[in-house]
Amino acid sequence: MEDKAIVVKNLKKYFKDVKAVDDISFEVGYGQLFALLGQNGAGKSTTIRILTNLAVPTSGYVEVAGYNVLKNPTEVRKNIGLVAEKVILYNDLTAMENIKFFGRLYGMKDPEIYDRAEKFLKLFDIWDFKDMLISKMSTGMKQKINLARALVPDPKIIFLDEPTLGLDPVSTKHIRDFIVQLREEGRTIVYTTHVLHDVELMNVDKVAIMRKGKIVAMGTLNEIRKHFKKAEIVEIETDRTLSFNDPKIKILEQEDGYAKVEVEDLNQFMSYLTKANIKVRSFKSLEPSLEDIYVEISEGKLDAEIETVKE
Ligand SMILES: Nc1ncnc2c1ncn2[C@@H]1O[C@H](COP(=O)(O)OP(=O)(O)OP(=O)(O)O)[C@@H](O)[C@H]1O
Ligand SMILES: [Mg+2]
Repeated sequence: MEDKAIVVKNLKKYFKDVKAVDDISFEVGYGQLFALLGQNGAGKSTTIRILTNLAVPTSGYVEVAGYNVLKNPTEVRKNIGLVAEKVILYNDLTAMENIKFFGRLYGMKDPEIYDRAEKFLKLFDIWDFKDMLISKMSTGMKQKINLARALVPDPKIIFLDEPTLGLDPVSTKHIRDFIVQLREEGRTIVYTTHVLHDVELMNVDKVAIMRKGKIVAMGTLNEIRKHFKKAEIVEIETDRTLSFNDPKIKILEQEDGYAKVEVEDLNQFMSYLTKANIKVRSFKSLEPSLEDIYVEISEGKLDAEIETVKE
């Protein structure tokens, strides 16, 4: 048994000719916040469904909380909480009745369920609606109840498949902050989204970007940024109009002594400036935007390679 919260090796899930998950491997350490990113149809939910024993893989090895998901599904379920893409709640029961129903499945007693439900429903600002029928609730309200339901049994490992879908910006921020707090409490979290910005704000430990069933980039956000950084963008103010006869230097914008330049080799660029005796009034190097890198990887424009992280 390995000391990892999650171990996935060569996992595949094919639906006829659709390779929903196509030979992915990754590990998540205990206490880590792991984000699975990717466009619609990339294979995120299918991966989550396999890890939580809701779908059977075509092949590959999956271990969660130290247990083989296929061989010990009951042990796995005891250790995990899931907020699935499709809200799992009974429409004809109230919020509290739903939470009690699911809590009892975990062998919890009603007073304990009630206390923990109160904590989460108050935190999500939805306590006043505890006796409302699910069928009468808005999407965002249901999503919050669903999250509370998953957290009430106090799982060690939490899977959140787009938990902020349909939530307004204020609620989204609450949930994001709350996820960070769960991690600080030592829980392991696997979080899927197609919104890169959420991941940046949450300061996740590790990101895997999926495309067409494959993991095309994996690492910390900084590692991904560094790995795919092709060129540096510099903003420069000089005493004249610039022009370079070198394919490694591309002038992106230029106006009134101000220029935005993409350079492959910064040292070489600087020596050009010195040799031509160009006076530099100001100089600023811009970080490549992670958003740009992410969009390019997701669309398959960047020749992505799997980057492994040091734990
Ligand atoms: N039960 C199924 N039967 C057939 N194909 C499926 C099934 N479930 C998923 N797929 C296909 O597998 C691929 C991956 O789907 P998945 O739901 O895992 O993507 P996703 O990354 O979660 O996307 P989204 O961001 O839209 O939720 C898609 O092409 C989808 O059509
Ligand atoms: Mg999905």
